[in-house]
Amino acid sequence: CGIVGYLGNREAYPIIIEGLKRLEYRGYDSAGVAIYDGSSLKVSKTKGKVADLEQRVESEISSNGNLGIGHTRWATHGVPNDINSHPHTSNSGNLVIIHNGIIENYESLKKELISRGYTFESDTDTEVLVNLIEDVKLKEQVKLGKAVQIALNQVIGAYAIAVFDKTQSDEIVIARLGSPLAIGVGENEFFIASDASPFLEYTKNAIYLEDEEMAIIRLNKDVKIRKIKDDSLVDPYIQELQISLEQIEKGGYEHFMLKEIYEQPKAITDTYRGRLNRQQGIVKMSGVEDNLKKFLNANRIIIVACGTSWHAGLVAEYIFEDLARIPVEVEYASEFRYRNPVISEKDVVIAISQSGETADTLAAIKLAKSKGAFVFGVCNVVGSSIARETHAGAYTHAGPEIGVASTKAFTTQITVLTLIALRLAKAKGTISDSKFRQHLLELEMVPRKVEEALKSDTHIRMISDIYKNVRNFLYLGRGYNFPVALEGALKLKEISYIHAEGYPAAEMKHGPIALIDENMPIVVIATKKGHYEKVVSNIQEIKSRKGKIIGVVTKGDTQVKELADHVIEVPETLESLSPLLTTIPLQLLSYHIAVLLDKNVDQPRNLAKSVTVE
Ligand code: G6P
Repeated sequence: CGIVGYLGNREAYPIIIEGLKRLEYRGYDSAGVAIYDGSSLKVSKTKGKVADLEQRVESEISSNGNLGIGHTRWATHGVPNDINSHPHTSNSGNLVIIHNGIIENYESLKKELISRGYTFESDTDTEVLVNLIEDVKLKEQVKLGKAVQIALNQVIGAYAIAVFDKTQSDEIVIARLGSPLAIGVGENEFFIASDASPFLEYTKNAIYLEDEEMAIIRLNKDVKIRKIKDDSLVDPYIQELQISLEQIEKGGYEHFMLKEIYEQPKAITDTYRGRLNRQQGIVKMSGVEDNLKKFLNANRIIIVACGTSWHAGLVAEYIFEDLARIPVEVEYASEFRYRNPVISEKDVVIAISQSGETADTLAAIKLAKSKGAFVFGVCNVVGSSIARETHAGAYTHAGPEIGVASTKAFTTQITVLTLIALRLAKAKGTISDSKFRQHLLELEMVPRKVEEALKSDTHIRMISDIYKNVRNFLYLGRGYNFPVALEGALKLKEISYIHAEGYPAAEMKHGPIALIDENMPIVVIATKKGHYEKVVSNIQEIKSRKGKIIGVVTKGDTQVKELADHVIEVPETLESLSPLLTTIPLQLLSYHIAVLLDKNVDQPRNLAKSVTVE
């Protein structure tokens, strides 16, 4: 979910609504705002998108309030409807709150509050929290900040909250445990948001709250940061943000996803820039360099991640084992954390996460750390929770990714992981000098080759048009391109709602082959290097069952061209780098199908960009 708040001398409402639009990638089941204008508190909320909220608000909130909070929600407790939307107000009508996360013990707290006479309109844990704060405030006769602190100490769960009291309208109190929160510090004004994007045009000075911290933000006063547990004061660290507004805008593209697909040549270049020197024949990343021994002494590498990042982990498994000869296991963070895994100090854990906030991945990291493992993070969002929780790491430098379906994060994750594998291979002596140099050379050519792959855009749109109405797709690949098949299928599911499965091409005969008939499109990654002949045999098996074949092939291919219904060419490269190219047409295929079906590409139903709940 996304949180925005404002306290200052400007009109709060426009800042909040624009901010919510920028945070909509975090969840968009429902949205709401609360604005206080010095005499009345107006709350407006609705299920649906921020645009729906905006329409509704025009009539309800016309005030010029300078204090407000807003929320865009990804439902956890209670269906997304108007009543369950945030903000939630306390029984007295004085306190108003927005909340991300889950209060796990909300039912027992609710019972207790009901027995004390409180009533509830919604099914949410959030309404329980705001009344708990109110109850503490009245019972203990304390100020809002203190009441929040006492209340949060009774809460089990994860949260980022922003709350204010209309009887004390120069103050907002916020707190975080597990969900990110940033404070934008302007001149005599403060902004609050889940990430800095809502306030970038107003201020570049930001304070990021750490887990288990709360902030009492008062107009004309400093921000006071306290530890929730013991109330101790923390010195606020104000940092200057480097990110620009245009980086988070669409820049002429119809959708963020398309923009991000097209940004990949640059994103990949940004990822290896400064880390790879072909002339000197070196790969260098400080996070790896400083901990080289840990990597080299590791019994194995365990990669933990979710979603697309997990697919990048699977590609990395091939690269690490192939080049650096280190055994790798790739785990869904959610499974790893709950299955009592065998881990020791001899293990290196690599956590991959675009957002750096995924709750399951974060929990897996904490578990691995508690068992003594060295944990390395591969994140895109600078300063994110995972980036901070890990012992060391390497950023992907892809720039902000807004489209919910991950694209440039995936290819840049693979780029970083390739660099790490190369560095370790070199240190271990498992790669010859010439092969090492060849990798560097080829890696530097990838951005240009991605550009070339992007030229198939119109051709892919045409193919998309032919298959847009089918209900099932199969994606096949072998070796390095098996994870790409998984990722291609995931992309299609995510944004077009067409059922798709990714499979290792040879496994097809153990099941999915039963699905094949003349209506079934099968995307086969059949690039020249890497089991080409075997894949060609798989294509023949499909063909004899009349399946429709969309082949992703190396430029100039003739064999698959003869068999396939359509081919999409990508430039030739090393097998180990081929996922960086074969992924591109699959991203475009899912994009065009979704657009042709008139789906909401950037905000597919039920999904969220950053999943901060388990
Ligand atoms: C969500 C997103 C996916 C993403 C996954 C993991 O499901 O919709 O695009 O791959 O989370 O996110 P992370 O930020 O940890 O890479």
